[in-house]
Amino acid sequence: MKFVNATHRNENDKRVFLNASKNVGGKTSLMAKDFFRNLTYQQVNLADYDIPQVGKGTGEYDQVWNQVKNADVLLIGTPIYWSDVSGYLKTFMDHLDVNDDLKGADLYVIAQGMAIDQSEAVNTIYGSLSHFASRFGIHFIGIASTEKEVAQLNEKLQ
Ligand SMILES: Cc1cc2nc3c(=O)[nH]c(=O)nc-3n(C[C@H](O)[C@H](O)[C@H](O)COP(=O)(O)O)c2cc1C
Repeated sequence: MKFVNATHRNENDKRVFLNASKNVGGKTSLMAKDFFRNLTYQQVNLADYDIPQVGKGTGEYDQVWNQVKNADVLLIGTPIYWSDVSGYLKTFMDHLDVNDDLKGADLYVIAQGMAIDQSEAVNTIYGSLSHFASRFGIHFIGIASTEKEVAQLNEKLQ
């Protein structure tokens, strides 16, 4: 999958890592660390919040959104579950209310799975997150599922 050039590469950028893994210090978050390298970022673990299925109230959704909004650089990291994003991420996204809070931000995605070939999962995840990016006016820079791609994505960031 081709990566596009970043629009945010400044020292003072607000960088947020939305971690959609049940393991706050698991492989997904280790990949995020590799992605940001020396740059500072804020990690928001969906597993630390109680966000119910849609139709069952909003729970702590606003607490998460308030940390994610106004990011210049948003990294969404998800483990691959059934060739798709985790339920944590899907449930969070089901609550999204389209607005301008992230307009102009750069979106990077890490999809972390144990299979060797992730092309199908990456296509699926790319589809739904492209939809998210276009509705919110966000630049989708790229999606990485291997260490090599994480390093290539990092080159876009700095
Ligand atoms: C419910 C479930 C479904 C999974 N489905 C897939 C899958 O479809 N493809 C894959 O490569 N790995 C799959 N895995 C493995 C996880 O993606 C893998 O263990 C990942 O590294 C976990 O990241 P973490 O350390 O951040 O939790 C699945 C794991 C679970 C628990």
